[in-house]
Order: sequence, then C-alpha cells, then structure tokens
Amino acid sequence: MMLAMDNNKLIGRENDMPWHIPGEQIYFKQVTMGKPIIMGRKTYDSIGRPLPGRPNFVVTRNADWQAEGVSTCTSLQMAIDAGAQYYVDQGSSEEAPEVMIIGGAGLCREAMPQTQRIYLTAIDNEYEGDIYFDSFEWSDWVERSRQDKEHEGLKYAYLVLERPET
Ligand SMILES: NC(=O)c1ccc[n+]([C@@H]2O[C@H](COP(=O)([O-])OP(=O)(O)OC[C@H]3O[C@@H](n4cnc5c(N)ncnc54)[C@H](OP(=O)(O)O)[C@@H]3O)[C@@H](O)[C@H]2O)c1
Repeated sequence: MMLAMDNNKLIGRENDMPWHIPGEQIYFKQVTMGKPIIMGRKTYDSIGRPLPGRPNFVVTRNADWQAEGVSTCTSLQMAIDAGAQYYVDQGSSEEAPEVMIIGGAGLCREAMPQTQRIYLTAIDNEYEGDIYFDSFEWSDWVERSRQDKEHEGLKYAYLVLERPET
C-alpha cells in the first residue's frame, strides 16, 4: 500500500487530498513507477486520468465502467491477480515484485489483511476532511525505514512499514 495521512489518519476531503505537498507527489511517483497500481473508483475519479508508466487497475462494482488507459476490475482480488500477471508477462525476475494499492479507504479496508508493506507518508498536522485510513493500526506494523521531511514549516515523514516478524 502507499498512502499519506495526517495525525488523525485523515486521507481525503471531498474526493480530493486535504493537502498539497509537491515533494510527496514526486516520492509517490518514484515508489510506484513501473509497478501495477490498484485504486478504488473514487480515487481514480479524484485523479481523473491514468498515471503514466504504470499499469492502472481501477476496482469498481460496475462492470460497465470504463476509462481510457486503465483496466477495470470488479473485485480487489481480480486486480491483485492482474497486477501479479503483469510481472509474469514482463518476464520479470524481481524477487519481491510489488503490486501497489494506492487507496482509497474503502479499498484499503478490504486489502489490509493481505498487505505486507506500507509506504506511509505521515504528515504531522491535523486537517479537515471526510475519509480516514481507518483500517490502519500503528501497533500492527514496525518501521523499516524513515525519512524526515519538511515543506514550508510542515513536518512529514516517509515511512516504510512491515509486519513484525513472528
Ligand atoms: N491521502 C492519500 O494517500 C489518498 C490516497 C488515495 C485516495 N485518497 C482520497 O480518498 C478519497 C477516496 O477514497 P474512498 O474511500 O472514498 O473511495 P475508494 O476506495 O477510492 O473508492 C471506492 C469505490 O471503489 C469501488 N470498490 C471499493 N471496494 C470494492 C470492492 N471490494 N469490489 C468492487 N469495487 C470496490 C467502489 O466503486 P463503485 O462505486 O464504482 O462500485 C467504491 O465505491 C478521496 O478523497 C481521495 O483523494 C487519499
């Protein structure tokens, strides 16, 4: 998964992002480039176009839904399977190929049990909004890496979180 959230786990406002942090968008692009990305239909609507350089899979219950440059999937599992197949078709020899779930909250709720790594941008602030990363619990994760950042006085951090070893 890859998401950005504030101190209250807020991720969205009126089908948009509650903040604008240019460096965060660049980081998102760096991490996801070349990897299959899976998103809920509302997240796709908020972006409004396919993200280039990455196969885009949009999950919707509406089998007739279509948009140019993206693949429609009627279930999360269909999208994950298609993302995995992408690597097979590429003849990829990557040891741990990543299929990236990029939101929103609805899709993440369903995907959380099978998620192994989260690229989480933790923004040290509180915003107004209406969509929360409510399936995320800090205690379920350990921090594998952390980069602290600042933009115009706003502190945020790029965390890579993984499940604790059992
Ligand atoms: N901060 C961040 O990192 C970040 C990342 C992504 C999104 N966001 C924000 O989050 C908000 C959107 O998130 P959201 O939770 O409202 O919506 P969402 O998860 O992006 O999309 C929900 C839609 O996805 C489809 N869907 C979800 N689960 C499904 C399933 N199991 N099977 C089939 N279809 C499924 C349904 O589409 P249909 O209604 O078409 O059937 C559902 O209405 C926006 O504000 C956006 O800006 C923030």
